[in-house]
Amino acid sequence: MRSISSLLPLSLILLSSLLILNTLAINSLHEAQHLQSSRRSRGRTKSPKSPLLPPPPSPSLTSPPPPPSPAGRNPQINLLTFADARLATVYPVIQKFKSTITSDPLNITASWVGSDICTYRGFFCDSPPDNASATAVASIDFNGFGLSAPSLDGFLDRLPDIALFHANSNFFAGTISSAVAALPYLYELDISNNLFTGPFPTAVLGMTGLTFLDIRFNSFSGAVPPQIFVQNLEALFLNDNQFMTNLPPNLANTRILYLTLANNKFTGSIPGSIFKAFVSLTEVLLLNNQLTGCLPYEVGMLNGAVVFDVGSNRLTGPIPWSLVCLEKVEQLNLGGNQFYGILPDLLCSGLGGLGNLVNLTLSGNYFTGVGRLCMDLIMNGVLDLTGNCIPGFPFQRPVQECAEFFAKPRMLCPRPWSYTYVPCTPFSGLIHGLAPTP
Ligand SMILES: *[C@@H]1O[C@H](CO)[C@@H](O)[C@H](O)[C@H]1NC(C)=O
Ligand SMILES: *[C@@H]1O[C@H](CO)[C@@H](O)[C@H](O)[C@H]1NC(C)=O
Ligand SMILES: *[C@@H]1O[C@H](CO)[C@@H](O)[C@H](O)[C@H]1NC(C)=O
Repeated sequence: MRSISSLLPLSLILLSSLLILNTLAINSLHEAQHLQSSRRSRGRTKSPKSPLLPPPPSPSLTSPPPPPSPAGRNPQINLLTFADARLATVYPVIQKFKSTITSDPLNITASWVGSDICTYRGFFCDSPPDNASATAVASIDFNGFGLSAPSLDGFLDRLPDIALFHANSNFFAGTISSAVAALPYLYELDISNNLFTGPFPTAVLGMTGLTFLDIRFNSFSGAVPPQIFVQNLEALFLNDNQFMTNLPPNLANTRILYLTLANNKFTGSIPGSIFKAFVSLTEVLLLNNQLTGCLPYEVGMLNGAVVFDVGSNRLTGPIPWSLVCLEKVEQLNLGGNQFYGILPDLLCSGLGGLGNLVNLTLSGNYFTGVGRLCMDLIMNGVLDLTGNCIPGFPFQRPVQECAEFFAKPRMLCPRPWSYTYVPCTPFSGLIHGLAPTP
């Protein structure tokens, strides 16, 4: 019986002979399979540097197949030489993950062989923060690779030096393991446009280094923990999931610069304090939720907003005149709600006069009248008032539908005075005497 030590050189000889076979013609399926395994082996093995070794006999002709005992395979793995111990540590993690990938349309994982992990497609190395002379997998960019895998568990959470993980537009599924909480350097996590399910990945709560969290376009559901809004994030993208929760009261204290909540099932009303949260935001996207109640006049104080979109919710009440204060707004969408009342000239001439407005969508509500000065905006294609209840206008709701809406008892908005209140100076002069002071 051969000892392990006598098997070792044999496997080395087999390997080098297979390497040489690479240059020969493949004559049979059997040989092709040998060649395949040699390619894999070569990738994991330090290439023999010495051209002086005599070519050993071709294994397909004279050598027996490699011994079946596990000892005959282990040396090949042991022969891998890594540039750094940290790369050796993540090698089995990556290979295990690779074995779970069920679809790879761009043939990405074909490059995930051998010890040179830093050349794998999608993997990037750098020195980790705790050791400037070490080399580690510091970032992953799988964006758009279209990979399918049932889970990232055991992969993402076992890359201890990862700082950036970008994997948008793949088909990764499952939930996000709570073990990611232990990744000390992770500061950007983008798993958008995948197939993740389950509750909000609470592991990210309290990850003090995390600045960018993008989980949009998945199927996460349930509540969003309010703590996430006061964490030190710069960007939080939650849109296009199944989150069903009230807008949290502490949203007012968020420091997040980029926040999207659209296309979920956020319920409840928009608190007046929200303007504090959004005051630095340029895009306020609350569209396609299930928000109810009236629009507080404080939305007019979002004076950095270029896009303000609360379309397709269940908001109601008159339109606050304070919207005229959105002096940077280009896109203002209140469509697909249950707003009613009259669109005042002030808004049309005010917003229109600023010259930024390109799209004011009020379609699909129950407005019954419109100021004369609004006609210019309609003619210019800026203002869309279709699907309302404005007599004599084209493309309005059937009279019957409007009658039914107005026959039903309607909730009265709180602070009635606030609907004509204009909190910004250039316009408050215009309506002097109209708006009561709060
Ligand atoms: C995938 O890549 C490997 C290595 O680059 C190559 O040998 C193989 O033919 C490729 N397969 C497909 C389906 O493109
Ligand atoms: C830093 O990394 C280098 C390269 O891996 C290693 O040789 C060295 O021991 C490490 N230093 C510390 C303090 O861990
Ligand atoms: C205006 O905005 C609405 C709502 O976002 C959108 O559906 C519509 O296509 C836009 N119109 C134009 C002309 O861009």
